[in-house]
Amino acid sequence: MPMDVSLRVERAALTSVRTPLLVVGLFEGVEEPGGATAAVDEALGGLIGRLISEGDIRGTLGEITVLYNQGDHGSLAADRVAVVGLGPRDELNLEAIRVASGTAARKARDLRLARYATVVHGAGAGTVDPRLAARTVGEASLLALYQFDSFKSAPDQPPTKVSEVVLVERDEDRAEAIGDAAREAKSIADAVCLARDLSQTPGNAMTPTVLADAARTMAESRGLSCQVWGKDELRERGMNAILAVNSGSVQDPRFVMMRYDSGNERARTLAVVGKGITFDSGGISIKPAEHMENMKHDMSGAATVVGFLQLAADLKLAVNVIGIFAATENLPSGSSYKPGDVFKTYNGTMIEILNTDAEGRVILSDSLAYAAEQNPDAIVDLATLTGACVVALGYHASGAMGNSETLLGLMKECGDTSGERVWPLPLWKDHKKDIESSIADIKNTGGRAGGALTAAAFLDRFVGGKPWVHLDIAGTAYTTGWARVPPYQPPACATGVGVRLLLEFARRWGS
Ligand code: BES
Ligand code: MN
Ligand code: ZN
Repeated sequence: MPMDVSLRVERAALTSVRTPLLVVGLFEGVEEPGGATAAVDEALGGLIGRLISEGDIRGTLGEITVLYNQGDHGSLAADRVAVVGLGPRDELNLEAIRVASGTAARKARDLRLARYATVVHGAGAGTVDPRLAARTVGEASLLALYQFDSFKSAPDQPPTKVSEVVLVERDEDRAEAIGDAAREAKSIADAVCLARDLSQTPGNAMTPTVLADAARTMAESRGLSCQVWGKDELRERGMNAILAVNSGSVQDPRFVMMRYDSGNERARTLAVVGKGITFDSGGISIKPAEHMENMKHDMSGAATVVGFLQLAADLKLAVNVIGIFAATENLPSGSSYKPGDVFKTYNGTMIEILNTDAEGRVILSDSLAYAAEQNPDAIVDLATLTGACVVALGYHASGAMGNSETLLGLMKECGDTSGERVWPLPLWKDHKKDIESSIADIKNTGGRAGGALTAAAFLDRFVGGKPWVHLDIAGTAYTTGWARVPPYQPPACATGVGVRLLLEFARRWGS
C-alpha cells in the first residue's frame, strides 16, 4: 500500500506561499534570524527575532515553535509559521536535517493540517548539496507521517491527515534540481513504508503465503521476475533446513526469489537475502511469554528485501539485484523439529540443532546457499538474528559481520550517511571453531557468549566464499516503548530498516 502523502516542489518566495503552515529553520545560538528565516521574520514584524532575544526560541535540534500570522496575509501568505531548531550550524549534517524535518511533519499532523510547506533545511548552508538536502527533507518528512492503522476500526469522524508536503525554493534552477530529488524521496519513502507495513502486520495476517504474495504483487507491478516455491519444490531441491523449521507449523512455507535487471550487461549483481520468520515462538525451545508479540517482526529482513527490490526498480539502479527470502513460522507441535535433530542443508552441510529458537540461521543456510549459486558479485543478508546483538549494540545500530573488510568498511560508511547506522563485529576462526558439532558438521548455537558472532560464523558456511556482509537487525527492525527514537521513526512500530542503507550501498558499490 503506497503512502497517501504527496511531495511537491513549489518555486516561489517564502513569504508568498499560501499554506496553512510554513516551516523555517533556525540554527542554535543565532541572535538574528538569517537567510530565508529573516524574510519571514520581517513579514511577522520581527516576532521571531524578539522570541530569540527573550530566550523563548533557542534553535536546539528538535525544538519547534508555532507562530500565528496576525497580519493581512499581504506580506506573509502563510497562516502559520513553525520555527524548527537545527542545532549548531557547525554540527549540521543529514541526520540533523532528518530530525528537524520529522519534528515539523509531526507538528503539522498534531495540528491536523491537510498540508504544509517547508524550506529545504541545509540547502543554503553550503555544506550539504541542495539536492541531497531536498531528498533528505522529503524522505524524513514522509517517513515521520507514516501511520499503521489498517487494524483499527475507522473512527466516525476521521481526523484530517497531512496529504501533501511542499518543498519551497525560490531559485528556478535549484527548484528544478530539487524536483528530481523530491521524486526520489517519494520512492524511497514508499519502499521503506512497504517494508514497515509488511513487518508491522500481525502474524495471523502476515503468513508465509501472504508475504510471498506481497512480494509477487510488488514484482509484477514493477515488471520484475519473481519465482515462488512451496513445500514440494523445497523437498525436490533438498532445502531441508527450511523444511525443518517449518515442520511445527500448519502454514505452508514459501521460498521467494525476485530479480531486478539494470539492463546493463556489465553491471555488477548484488544478492540481498532476508530472514522471513513470520512468527518466532522459539519452537520446542520455546521463548518466555514476555514481549513474544514482537516476534511478528521476525520477518523484517524479508520485508526489507521486498522494499528494496521495489526501490531498485523505481530508481532504475545501475546494479542488478537478486532478492531472496524463505518464509515460515517457528512453532512447537508434535511434528516440530527438535533439539538433537540433524539435517542436510541445500549445500550439503550437515547441521545439528541444539536450540530450535536459533531458527533464523537455519532457514538462512538454505537461502544463502541458493543465493551463492546464482553467482552474484556480493551478498548482503538482513536478519533479526540474535538477542545477543541487541545486548552488544543496543537499539541504535545494526551489527555487521562478514568475510570482506572492504565491503564491511563500505557498509559502515553507508550506515553513517543513510542514518541507518551499522557497527562492525568480529568474525574470527575461533568463532567458526565454536560451532563445530560432535555428531554433524556444525551446530546451530555456540552458547551465550558472543552469540551474534557464532551466528555469523554459522552463516559463513553457506555463502560459498562470495564477498558477503551479514546485518543483524534484531535491535533496529522495530521500535519499542523502551528506547528513544527519532521523529521520523514511528513509536512501537516496524522501522523498515535497511532499505535506505541498501540504497546507499548499492549505489556506492555498483559504481
Ligand atoms: N528472532 C530471534 C532474535 C531476536 C531477539 C530478534 C530479540 C529480535 C529481538 C532469534 O530467532 C532467536 O531467538 N535467537 C536466539 C538464539 C539463541 C537461541 C542461540 C537468541 O538470540 O536468544
Ligand atoms: Mn528464534
Ligand atoms: Zn527468530
